[in-house]
Amino acid sequence: MAIIAPSLLAANFLNLQAECDIVNASEADWLHFDVMDGQFVPNISFGPMVLEFVRKVVKKTCDVHLMIEDPARYAEVFKKAGADHLTIHIEACPRLHQDITYIKSLGMKAGVAVNPHTPVSMLSDILHEISIVNLMSVNPGFGGQQFIPYTLEKIRQLKQMITERGLDVLIEIDGGVTLENAKEILDAGADVLVAGSTVFKAKDPVATIAQLKTL
Ligand code: DX5
Ligand code: ZN
Repeated sequence: MAIIAPSLLAANFLNLQAECDIVNASEADWLHFDVMDGQFVPNISFGPMVLEFVRKVVKKTCDVHLMIEDPARYAEVFKKAGADHLTIHIEACPRLHQDITYIKSLGMKAGVAVNPHTPVSMLSDILHEISIVNLMSVNPGFGGQQFIPYTLEKIRQLKQMITERGLDVLIEIDGGVTLENAKEILDAGADVLVAGSTVFKAKDPVATIAQLKTL
C-alpha cells in the first residue's frame, strides 16, 4: 500500500491547528514539510520555528524536504524541531556523502531529492546510504504545478536500480500528484505520494487521502 504524505505547503497557514487535525484524523502516513530559502528555489516558505509548533500537534512522521542551499547547516536545528526524515537536494550538495552521514548521525532518516533534469543514475553511488529518494515531478518552488510525465520513466529506472541491488529505499514522488495520475505513478514503482493541492484544496481532505490510500 502506498505511503501518503500530505504537503503542508498547500494548507491554510492561518489555521494550521485545524489543518494538522485533519492530517491526524486521516489515513495519512507522513506529513511532508517543504522548506524553501529563496535561493535554491525562487520562493520562501517556512522553517524550523513553524515545524516546532506543527510537531507538537501532528502525530504522523514528519518528512522534511529542504529546498535550500547548504542544507547540512540546518540539519541539527530541524532535528531539534522534530524532523523524522531529512531530505536534501543533490543539486545543492557538493559533499553529499558527508551531509548524508551527518543527517544519519543526528538520528534522522536521510533522503536525497533530485530535480526533473537530474538523471537517476546520479544517485548510483549514494543509493545504499539513504532511505528515501524524492523524485521531483515538478520544478521545485511552488505547489499546484503540473506533473511532468517523464517522471514515470525515471521511477521505472530507479526502481530497477533499487531492486537489482536489493536495497531498501523508498521512491517518493513530489509535485502534481492527483487522484487521476496517482495509480499510474504507483504502477511505475513509486512507494510514497506527496500531495499538496490535491489534499488541502479538496472539499474533503480526509476522504481524498483515503481515496489515495486505496489505489
Ligand atoms: C514543490 C514541493 C512539493 C509541493 C507539492 O516544490 O516540494 O512538495 O508541496 O505540491 P502539489 O502537490 O500541489 O504539487
Ligand atoms: Zn516537497
